[in-house]
Amino acid sequence: MTLDRRLFLQSSSLILAGGISQLVGPDGRALGAPKFAEKPTFQPRALMATWTQDPTTTMTLQWLGKNEQDGLTRNLWYRQSRHKTWREVPHTARRFPHTDLWQFRAELTGLAPDATYRIRIGLDSKQESIRTMPAKATNEISFVSGGDSGSSSAARRTNQLAAIQSPRFVVLGGDLAYENGENSETFLKFIDNYSADLRDEQGHLIPLVACIGNHETVGFYDKTRKEAPFFYAMFDGLYPDTGYATLDFGDYLSLVLMDSGHTSPIEGDQTDWLERQLKTREDHPNVFLVNHVPMYPCVRNADDKLHASMRKHWSPLLERYNVDAALEHHDHAFKRTHRMLDGLVNDRGVLYLGDGSWGRIRNPEGPDKRPFLAKSTESYHMSLHRLAGKDRFHMALSDRGKVVDVVHTQKLART
Ligand SMILES: [Fe+2]
Ligand SMILES: [Fe+2]
Repeated sequence: MTLDRRLFLQSSSLILAGGISQLVGPDGRALGAPKFAEKPTFQPRALMATWTQDPTTTMTLQWLGKNEQDGLTRNLWYRQSRHKTWREVPHTARRFPHTDLWQFRAELTGLAPDATYRIRIGLDSKQESIRTMPAKATNEISFVSGGDSGSSSAARRTNQLAAIQSPRFVVLGGDLAYENGENSETFLKFIDNYSADLRDEQGHLIPLVACIGNHETVGFYDKTRKEAPFFYAMFDGLYPDTGYATLDFGDYLSLVLMDSGHTSPIEGDQTDWLERQLKTREDHPNVFLVNHVPMYPCVRNADDKLHASMRKHWSPLLERYNVDAALEHHDHAFKRTHRMLDGLVNDRGVLYLGDGSWGRIRNPEGPDKRPFLAKSTESYHMSLHRLAGKDRFHMALSDRGKVVDVVHTQKLART
């Protein structure tokens, strides 16, 4: 019997036990309800929330354990904060690449939108909490983007600055840990830091969405999924077959997450897919493209083959289907472009924000040398995006909390 099968059978029997938990015993405690340890003795390593399906009603939780028993004996329990009944969900277990660790994953579905849930891993861990995204964008929604993190002291400061904003989620556009597909210690350090630092003001786990960058792979470009073992171990729920995917938040926000040539070619299937994704979301209120290598870089030579190829194949699609902004990374500085249309500055064009300096930094060229740039600075940064009805505010903050840039945008009216 496979491990996954055994876990599922064990979980099923416990779910049946949970089915009688509405009955109340003499001590007032629901019969069949889990009896959690008063003092937690088990700490799941690198507990992290992410999504593989609609974030308004689902949540994926992952954690690491030292051995198989950490998964077999501890299942994930959850309840909506305003309800008393705990439920249990089956999870999967597999080896974490290049380590003796086990990776466990549970998928919560059918959740209430805009709701807080309490979670526990087994009976002996401490209670954690998560919250789902709203069903509609009726109130302001904030999220943070960035890229090129690693685990330096600057990256930790940016982590903490991001958490202080209490964003609904973080999207990292590649070069998460700089393990280069090989160094497990480097990757573990990154996810340990993220798990410890990224809690909002109420202690909820802040979910992480990511796209792939060159430092996720052994060799950077034109590689296979097997050559990006840590990225796909963490995120293959969203990317089961390809290095690109779209995450739709109800009908109000779409993240179109690209693979800038690391495990998927730019031309061909990915570009065809991009056109289909954008075409069907042409009238959606907030569509952001997230990619690692920038179409409009502020440090590297913009005429290099890869940048030019993405500008040739992807930029016209972003323009045609009215994408609101491209969130780019890889060049390790702050940049904001003018709106760009067909390679030229044009108010009818697309905004490109970047360039990935969560924890790494370089000195960019400025608007004098690169006319497509509106602004660039040598600054660690993350960007806080606030969606408020028809208005959007994109604020870049340095690792020390200084406001680097603010820009206000609205959906462009089609002519
Ligand atoms: Fe990088
Ligand atoms: Fe990079």
